[in-house]
Amino acid sequence: MKQTALTKERVFSYDTRRFNFAELIQDILLADMADPALSLEHIHRLDKAKSSHLLTFASDQNLYFHNKYYDSPKLPKLLAAYRDFVSTVIAPQFADDQLIVQAKPTFRIHLPNNTAIPSDTGGDPSRPGLHCDADYNHPDVEFNFWVPFTQCLPDNTLHLESAPGKGDFRPMLLNNGQVLRFWGARCMHHNKINAQGPTRVSFDFRVMNKSDWDAISPTWRERVATVQRRIKFTLGNYYMLYNKNTQRFSHHETVEETISLPKPWVASGYASSVMAR
Ligand SMILES: [Fe+2]
Repeated sequence: MKQTALTKERVFSYDTRRFNFAELIQDILLADMADPALSLEHIHRLDKAKSSHLLTFASDQNLYFHNKYYDSPKLPKLLAAYRDFVSTVIAPQFADDQLIVQAKPTFRIHLPNNTAIPSDTGGDPSRPGLHCDADYNHPDVEFNFWVPFTQCLPDNTLHLESAPGKGDFRPMLLNNGQVLRFWGARCMHHNKINAQGPTRVSFDFRVMNKSDWDAISPTWRERVATVQRRIKFTLGNYYMLYNKNTQRFSHHETVEETISLPKPWVASGYASSVMAR
């Protein structure tokens, strides 16, 4: 691994005026609702939320709000802001000139009396969804960025151990405008059933140095995919390439190509892996 320092978790802030993700997501989810000014943390008051099922391994990422987000004609605007964010805020933390970046951030919603990841996995009912991403095929040279757009409380947030095997799980109490970087491939993390009430809305994504990616067997990359949707861990599928020198993103290693709009393969019904988090 090129940068072992990145395995240590870190919380940092960003400029919400330039990267107005909360507003963009509010526009995607609420603009055509009866109360478009409803805050994201109260989105559970909508009738559309009332029929939400408890998230399970078999039914992750498919609540009404997930589909609304991934199928929205407004999603390209959010993805453009995401790429600007990766280029400006995230890329400087990595040593390589070229980075491998999750093509689209994974959307999460943690409604009252629910989880944001499958509640029926992990083997410990007190820690719903307990896992590390390597359990679900993610390479361990990958680093996670977790970005909430609402206030996080102990019951509606991510619980994370500080290092692999430590088991010292702590609730990550961030707010809109903050980012958690963590080694999700190896550090275990889980949810709680949200008994406190406010909804948490967030997205998360993964980044690694290209030199670490190059050390992974191409055969492995072609063979291994996300566990539910079977999205291959390859460029043009789960990942895209970012070049710091040209400040361009590409779906391919050999063809320089600026990505301005999502490709057809992600335009409809895209959802990341159940455990791509
Ligand atoms: Fe995860």
